[in-house]
Amino acid sequence: MNNLDQIVEQARADFLAASDSAQLEQAKARFLGRSGSLTELLKGLGKLEAEQRREIGARINQAKGEIESLLEARREALLKAALEVQLAAEALDVTLPGRGYGVGGLHPVSRTLERIETLFRSIGFEVADGPEIETDYHNFTALNTPENHPARSMHDTFYIENEDKVLLRTHTSPVQIRSMEAHVARFGSMETMPELRVIIPGRVYRVDSDATHSPMFHQVEGLWIGADISFSDLKGVVTDFLRRFFETDDLQVRFRPSFFPFTEPSAEIDVAFMSGEMKGRWLEIAGCGMVHPNVLRHGGVDPERYTGFAFGMGPDRLTMLRYGVNDLRLFFEGDLRFLSQFR
Ligand code: PHE
Repeated sequence: MNNLDQIVEQARADFLAASDSAQLEQAKARFLGRSGSLTELLKGLGKLEAEQRREIGARINQAKGEIESLLEARREALLKAALEVQLAAEALDVTLPGRGYGVGGLHPVSRTLERIETLFRSIGFEVADGPEIETDYHNFTALNTPENHPARSMHDTFYIENEDKVLLRTHTSPVQIRSMEAHVARFGSMETMPELRVIIPGRVYRVDSDATHSPMFHQVEGLWIGADISFSDLKGVVTDFLRRFFETDDLQVRFRPSFFPFTEPSAEIDVAFMSGEMKGRWLEIAGCGMVHPNVLRHGGVDPERYTGFAFGMGPDRLTMLRYGVNDLRLFFEGDLRFLSQFR
């Protein structure tokens, strides 16, 4: 029966053309559904003679069996194809190396600050800190800096808008005043007051920006106040610190006379290495001096009874020297290629 062969061939073609299971079920309905072509043929059997009915019925059933196995084969093929698509999409390459964890590290300037703190703690200094948004009084007036001093100009100092006499501190020296105030308050009577030994690391701000100046930079203030503190104590403490900081005695330290309103006498501290690439080059790394009597008074300390020294160091500069970095801006750009070298 030619017609049956055609139906089977048509079913084979239609099943193959179905590209997903929904299409396949629609194709199935066209042959095996309630009014599918094969079902119609079966319905027609009733009109035939018994003899013919058996013979033709058997052939129709055979064709039906063929169509069902074609359908089953196509179902499996579609399922397998779908699974392969999914596997390809979710493929995991187990031969790739692991992502690992990024290892963080301290910023080179933080390392320097920690190192400075450790070295000064070892000779009895405490670490203190103060506000970066400071009053004009603490930043200038209490530090014996006159009203018309150039540092107070808008070109040099960041003032806070709409605030009277509030600014970003230009140095850590205002914390000298705050430390003295706190120390006197803590020990009440000046007669029984122990020595004040403090270092103050922190951020400071000036209107300044080039390869060696950044509008934000760091300072470490040092202050030692007691009954008999002299300039030679200052020289000894600073020189010893610098040799320990750079881990070498191969270092010259020079105190060059200078001026600061809040110290008298005042000096700049320069260092020079006696060997290596930097041999013989003097580099300024700090300002210092004996605390001015007016400053002691503003801190609540009697200048007739106590003397003291103070210094303000540039730890950014110290970091550049210690690690051989030649551009200050590298510290503040956040470039991981630079920073990860200090891990
Ligand atoms: N505050 C000074 C500056 O910023 C440094 C300094 C500190 C000088 C303490 C003397 C004493 O340049």
